[in-house]
Amino acid sequence: MILLTGGAGYIGSHTCVELQEANYDIVIADNLSNSHIESIDRIYEITGKRPAFYDTDLLDGEGLNAIFEENQIEAVIHFGGLKAVGESVAEPLKYYRNNIAGTVNLLEVMKQHNVKNLVFSSSATVYGDPHSVPIQEHFALTATNPYGRTKLMIEEMLKDLYHADPEWSISILRYFNPVGAHESGLIGEDPNGIPNNLFPFIAQVAIGSRSCLHIFGDDYPTADGTGVRDYIHVMDLANGHVKALEKNLYSTGTDAYNLGTGIGYSVLQMVRAFEKVNQVGIPYKVMSRRQGDIAECYADSSKANSELNWYATRGISQMCRDAWNWQVKNPSGYKSHAFS
Ligand code: NAD
Ligand code: UD1
Repeated sequence: MILLTGGAGYIGSHTCVELQEANYDIVIADNLSNSHIESIDRIYEITGKRPAFYDTDLLDGEGLNAIFEENQIEAVIHFGGLKAVGESVAEPLKYYRNNIAGTVNLLEVMKQHNVKNLVFSSSATVYGDPHSVPIQEHFALTATNPYGRTKLMIEEMLKDLYHADPEWSISILRYFNPVGAHESGLIGEDPNGIPNNLFPFIAQVAIGSRSCLHIFGDDYPTADGTGVRDYIHVMDLANGHVKALEKNLYSTGTDAYNLGTGIGYSVLQMVRAFEKVNQVGIPYKVMSRRQGDIAECYADSSKANSELNWYATRGISQMCRDAWNWQVKNPSGYKSHAFS
């Protein structure tokens, strides 16, 4: 049995599907603070298998303990956490309590139950403003906001844990920019309020729930002046977790892996691709740069290719098509159906 903390969320729900299709039994612990219970029904609809679900907060040690008592957990994939950069600047303690204290709780319960196998959701944000691209895992790490600092602190914590007890198997996955949705359109990204990230914003403009996209800066030192990122299809990302888990199950150690496609696209290239693939218009306005943004960020994922045998196989057309399919089928996210 594999435990997924935060398994009802965006990346977690897609990973549930990928794990079930690889014949793993799964159990989810999620407090639904940024997700919807409907996602569990949708996973069932896709795979025909209903994951066990616990409405449990990572801060509730007894609740976590009960999950380990009631299930034969072999490994944990730890998605559970808060992820909004701006909110983390405004409310740092909320982020330190939820992400750091929540992770300490989880690791303590794992240790008590002798479960020493973990895949952790980190982020390319731990590279800060990289000195060059593509980014390799050995590049210097830094944090530019409290959210990023929680990721960095957890990475450090995991390394300390392995040094203290070499029986642990820990894979740290540094995601680049996850986008898109399962091809069925049954699960996808369902942000609360105004999306912070580019892709859900584009999809909401395309469907007409927002009037125009604000492009944050066209004066970066990039080909067209807009920011360049490494967008990765969420199903490719989900598959990376299965590969990391397989590696963990057969070896001990701690390692970090970049999960990206290795290709950088600009904001304008993404807008054009979305328009072309989906035959929709995306009106936009160029604004000033968003504070904290960097010009360019894309991965060298050769370590994940060679050590995890993982490759991203889906290109931007598929990312655009699947994001749109989810948006059209669920114009208000999971709420579209739950309350209809
Ligand atoms: P998400 O918000 O959709 O999923 C996170 C899940 O964790 C949610 O279902 C939420 O309810 C749950 N959760 C939060 N705090 C919890 C707590 N205390 N107890 C139990 N459950 C809790 O986010 P996501 O995009 O699926 O991201 C998953 C992980 O990947 C996060 O750790 C995030 O920081 C990391 N990450 C995401 C991105 C991205 O762009 N989406 C990029 C890099 C890293
Ligand atoms: C953001 C987070 C980062 C997190 C990552 C993945 C910030 C400052 N950084 O990074 O910590 O790891 O998401 O979740 O929030 N853009 C627009 N208009 C928009 C939204 C975005 O022009 O409405 C541009 C941005 O300037 C950037 C690109 O689109 O160039 C991608 O932005 P976004 O999706 O927010 O991801 P990141 O900035 O890479």
